[in-house]
Amino acid sequence: MASLGTRSLYVLLTIIAASALSIRVAGWVQVSTQYGDVRGYELQTDTAVGDPVYDRLYVFKGIPYAAPPVGDLRFRPPADPTPWSGVRDATEFGRQCPQRNSTAYYPPVYGDFAYPLMTYQSEDCLSLNVYSHNISSTAGIPVMVWIHGGGLTKGSSLIWPGEAFAAHNNVVLVTINYRLGALGFLPTRDEDAPGNFGFLDQVKALEWVQGNIRNFGGDRSRVTIFGQSAGASSVSFLVMSPLATGLFHRAISESGIGVEPTLRRGDIAAAEALARAVGCSSEGYETMMACLRGKPAAELQNAEGIDILTPVIDGHFLTDTPWNILQKQQQNSVDYLLGTNSDEWGWLLSLPRSYVNAKGMNRTAFRDVLPGDLAWIQGIFPAGDVSAIVQPVTDQYLDPTGSGPDDPGVIRDQYLQFLTDMYFAAPTALMAQSQSAKPVRVFQYEFQHRSSVFSFKPPYVQADHSDDVLYVLGLLFLQDNNNNNNNNTSWKYGFSDQERQLCLDIMAYWTNFAANGDPNNQVGSPRKRSLVSWPRYMTSSKDYLRLDMTSSADVALRGARMKFWNEAVPRMMGEDVGSSGTTESANLMVFISLCAGVLISMCICKR
Ligand SMILES: *[C@@H]1O[C@H](CO)[C@@H](O)[C@H](O)[C@H]1NC(C)=O
Ligand SMILES: *[C@@H]1O[C@H](CO)[C@@H](O)[C@H](O)[C@H]1NC(C)=O
Ligand SMILES: *[C@@H]1O[C@H](CO)[C@@H](O)[C@H](O)[C@H]1NC(C)=O
Ligand SMILES: *[C@@H]1O[C@H](CO)[C@@H](O)[C@H](O)[C@H]1NC(C)=O
Ligand SMILES: *[C@@H]1O[C@H](CO)[C@@H](O)[C@H](O)[C@H]1NC(C)=O
Repeated sequence: MASLGTRSLYVLLTIIAASALSIRVAGWVQVSTQYGDVRGYELQTDTAVGDPVYDRLYVFKGIPYAAPPVGDLRFRPPADPTPWSGVRDATEFGRQCPQRNSTAYYPPVYGDFAYPLMTYQSEDCLSLNVYSHNISSTAGIPVMVWIHGGGLTKGSSLIWPGEAFAAHNNVVLVTINYRLGALGFLPTRDEDAPGNFGFLDQVKALEWVQGNIRNFGGDRSRVTIFGQSAGASSVSFLVMSPLATGLFHRAISESGIGVEPTLRRGDIAAAEALARAVGCSSEGYETMMACLRGKPAAELQNAEGIDILTPVIDGHFLTDTPWNILQKQQQNSVDYLLGTNSDEWGWLLSLPRSYVNAKGMNRTAFRDVLPGDLAWIQGIFPAGDVSAIVQPVTDQYLDPTGSGPDDPGVIRDQYLQFLTDMYFAAPTALMAQSQSAKPVRVFQYEFQHRSSVFSFKPPYVQADHSDDVLYVLGLLFLQDNNNNNNNNTSWKYGFSDQERQLCLDIMAYWTNFAANGDPNNQVGSPRKRSLVSWPRYMTSSKDYLRLDMTSSADVALRGARMKFWNEAVPRMMGEDVGSSGTTESANLMVFISLCAGVLISMCICKR
């Protein structure tokens, strides 16, 4: 491979150094795709990952799955990439989609991943990466497609390294970029694309997987999409979308289900606000769009005070509000593994909230901030009046008599649990309930373990938002290579051996599920240790697994509060919700009308 020469190797080493993962490249490898050939590299896994199951990985980075969404293609659905001749270099990550260069504090561990390549951005960002231990086209390995989080405004496929997950599990891992912020979610008045570009990118990437993954050793009839936070809610939107039907077969959502505010098609107030913020006239629609298409990407993303990330009910990707889709069970019938962490708002997400701290919170502060938080519910049920639920929510979380001890620590913990329930646990419970009424398998979990490496977090935080990612992607097995001058490797992070066992368990559950729809069935994972049996979620019993150092099965996670959020609150917001749960009531209505029909026809017959 003289043509690659030292320059490419230099590039490779730079990238690898930048991503804080030092690896040893054993050679180059070539695969053909629909659009042209790509050259990736062969990685000797033990140089990056501890105790690997597969000693070789084939890694392909920055493969374009769509045309660069620039110029007139900005704010349009993704188009096919232009085919290339010759061999395209796929040893370097593609650029991240444009996003604000955050100057925020980067915490230990998370910061190692999120920070280094923040400025590595371009609007030409629609690429994906493939990690496979066998690139024979007959290998038929289950495929897992990772959709990153970051609030639909941040993040990329390169933030979390894929090597550890791929080196430990019998799966082909694909990680994707998709458009973010205004570039990904600007609501427009265009017939073919009134918003949701970022989601359409995800669909396009899944189409690429269907068309090409066989050549990388993958089985296109066993594709599992998985993601965390905004990646998890993206997964749920793909589950809800008719455009994604058949492009994947199972889904995993970690901490995020898209029961959230949406925009009606044609509501372009956010686009007009952005236009004004960047000095474009919002008077005529066509002129406004032309002006927005002419602005540098960074200017749009940096527009002061404007975060564009709301899905649009466009009639194509999203046919109704998520709430209605789940009520009517119109989502795709796919196996679903989903869950949340015990303290989603424990620390990371609460960093910007100065009133949440080790000292606790007083009642006044709780009452002051609550209405602002409940705007979320108003957005989901715009016809209702959210002021009607302020008191019931307060009573749910604070001692309703108002005479209980005003322990600031207790109030803070209750406030954080309120946030966990409203944003994460309740939508997840709703999805589990709706999906389990279909002929598919559903598995629910709550991750509860406080990781030993997070000593900097306050003692009241157990499993925080994003902690699961480290375990799911096997990042506990990353190695520190002491500059590679000797073969002296040690763990990159100081997790305990027991935590590494938990990490192996979690990867086994996830990849077993990807292989055959059952996390307990060990044909998918090379993991030998026997796993605690994870009961399937049933509509009536609501089984789930507590994921912890010692995992255990239980039923009805946060039961009373889930009833409150998914039945009482929607009813107070004017929704017609039956007392025995949303999906059951929908079935009951069908049942009643069927019975009525039978009765009527009986009456007619009798006459
Ligand atoms: C890769 O898969 C092919 C097809 O199943 C198989 O023949 C081959 O042995 C596998 N290679 C390795 C290294 O496992
Ligand atoms: C972030 O920084 C990089 C490098 O300085 C720059 O190219 C990019 O445009 C910046 N992004 C934004 C949104 O400002
Ligand atoms: C309650 O907490 C807020 C915010 O921390 C503080 O400003 C206020 O003085 C506190 N009120 C009482 C009555 O302690
Ligand atoms: C490190 O290990 C590799 C592969 O096992 C070996 O080829 C190399 O010589 C070793 N390097 C040193 C400095 O021991
Ligand atoms: C290997 O690394 C460990 C910890 O990083 C260090 O304490 C030790 O001295 C190193 N050994 C050699 C031979 O470099």
